[in-house]
Amino acid sequence: MNKLSRSLSQHYFPSPFLVFILAVYFIKIASATCHVDDEAGLLGFKSGITHDPSGMLTTWKTGTDCCSWAGINCLFDDRVTSISLFGQLDEPNSFLSGTISPSLSKVQYLNGIYFQNLRNISGHFPDILFGLPKLLYVYIENTKLSGQIPVSIGRLTQLEALSLAGNRFSGPIPSSISKLTQLTQLNLGKNLLTGQFPIGIKQLRNLTYLNLEQNKLSGTIPDIFKSFPDLRILTLTRNAFSGKIPESISSLAPKLIYLELGHNALSGQIPSFLGKFKALDTLDLSWNSFTGVVPKSFANLTKIFNLDLSHNSLNDPFPQMNVKGIESLDLSYNNFHLKQIPKWVTSSPIIYSLKLAKCGITIKLDNWKPAETYFYDFIDVSENEISGSPVALLNRTDFLVGFKAAGNKLKFDLGKLRIVETLKELDISRNLVYGKVPMAVTGLKRLNVSYNHLCGQLPKTKFPVSSVVGNDCLCGSPLPPCKL
Ligand SMILES: *[C@@H]1O[C@H](CO)[C@@H](O)[C@H](O)[C@H]1NC(C)=O
Ligand SMILES: *[C@@H]1O[C@H](CO)[C@@H](O)[C@H](O)[C@H]1NC(C)=O
Ligand SMILES: *[C@@H]1O[C@H](CO)[C@@H](O)[C@H](O)[C@H]1NC(C)=O
Ligand SMILES: *[C@@H]1O[C@H](CO)[C@@H](O)[C@H](O)[C@H]1NC(C)=O
Ligand SMILES: *[C@@H]1O[C@H](CO)[C@@H](O)[C@H](O)[C@H]1NC(C)=O
Repeated sequence: MNKLSRSLSQHYFPSPFLVFILAVYFIKIASATCHVDDEAGLLGFKSGITHDPSGMLTTWKTGTDCCSWAGINCLFDDRVTSISLFGQLDEPNSFLSGTISPSLSKVQYLNGIYFQNLRNISGHFPDILFGLPKLLYVYIENTKLSGQIPVSIGRLTQLEALSLAGNRFSGPIPSSISKLTQLTQLNLGKNLLTGQFPIGIKQLRNLTYLNLEQNKLSGTIPDIFKSFPDLRILTLTRNAFSGKIPESISSLAPKLIYLELGHNALSGQIPSFLGKFKALDTLDLSWNSFTGVVPKSFANLTKIFNLDLSHNSLNDPFPQMNVKGIESLDLSYNNFHLKQIPKWVTSSPIIYSLKLAKCGITIKLDNWKPAETYFYDFIDVSENEISGSPVALLNRTDFLVGFKAAGNKLKFDLGKLRIVETLKELDISRNLVYGKVPMAVTGLKRLNVSYNHLCGQLPKTKFPVSSVVGNDCLCGSPLPPCKL
């Protein structure tokens, strides 16, 4: 699989309902006129919107069939069954301001609300959800709803998917969440939620997707994972969870595809049962306090594509993996002394991101001949004892975006380094690099060539002085002018 299709599948995987909705979105359902209540409800919603700079709602006009309005679907005769409004994140004007009007509760046949990236809808948890008996799918993502998630959320027992990701909800996750037993997807990620992981989530036995990432949740991760026979994605990244990885996570082994626990305060050893996760695609345990060795059983993670164990206190030896194609690997900032870049990395036909900073690598870079370099966009081998030259490597990486190799023993003529147009970041500080700084660096966003043996006039750039200091005889802004 190539990088693009993989990253697309990663982005869209959690919302199969959206894929479905996008498909029906373009099918015009022939229908005379929509139900008067639906028209009134939707126009009421529109009147709660104070600013629609990209014209998302311009087709919503009195007297026209509301089933034909942008984002509206009517699956049963004249009744509106879903609203899908998507902002485009790369377009600054693609947002809605205002609040979710209570009139929306007139749209009684609504079974799906899909509000994605509307960015500027504010207000509290929308009470209208309680007045819509057919509602099954709620995605209100990346807007500005705030306040607490009400205890009454436990009344939405019919819901099969609930995502409030990317809002500003604060306070605890109410324990009444345990009543939403039909949920297959629950995403409360990217809010300001505090308190503990609610143990009642164990009642949600149909979950295939659970995401609580980027909140302020703390305490231990409860030992409740025997309750989720179908869980495929578990994302608890960027919270303040502490303690060990609970034993019951092992019961997720047959089906779990994503296990993301990075950026927490977890400790103890990495449990060896993780090697049994035959379907695991992505494992992120980075930025925790794990100690000990990486279990030998990891050799059996033959399907792993993304492995991030960086920023822990893990020790040698690193197991020999049997994975055919790793895509992204980060083992940086542990206590590893790998000496070599592992063979299963070098032979990967699809790798695009390799981060092995401070991994005790002692190779001569010229001797490292990765099987495939086409997909590489990021390489970080900083703080090792790598000697030789990256010139041949960078001659093969046609789409590289970042190359970091600070704090090594690289010795080469910088003028000979190919700087491809895609390259945005180059850090080769604290090496033995000589020659001149080439014009091509002007296309970079970040450059660091400090503490090398470079000489000559710097090309005109806006890089700070700390990017270029500590060389033998560089001159010109931001350093003192060259002597004529
Ligand atoms: C976002 O919404 C707030 C509150 O409704 C409003 O004051 C602000 O102007 C809006 N921002 C933009 C960019 O429209
Ligand atoms: C939840 O699981 C039960 C038992 O397997 C099943 O009958 C029910 O249809 C499931 N609900 C959903 C929404 O998948
Ligand atoms: C890998 O899995 C096989 C079969 O389950 C098992 O026999 C073997 O011990 C495992 N290897 C490691 C290193 O754990
Ligand atoms: C860089 O690549 C070109 C052709 O792709 C080749 O001719 C040249 O010798 C290479 N240079 C180095 C230093 O590997
Ligand atoms: C460049 O690298 C040096 C040493 O590695 C570091 O002290 C400095 O802050 C870096 N400067 C920039 C702009 O990254």
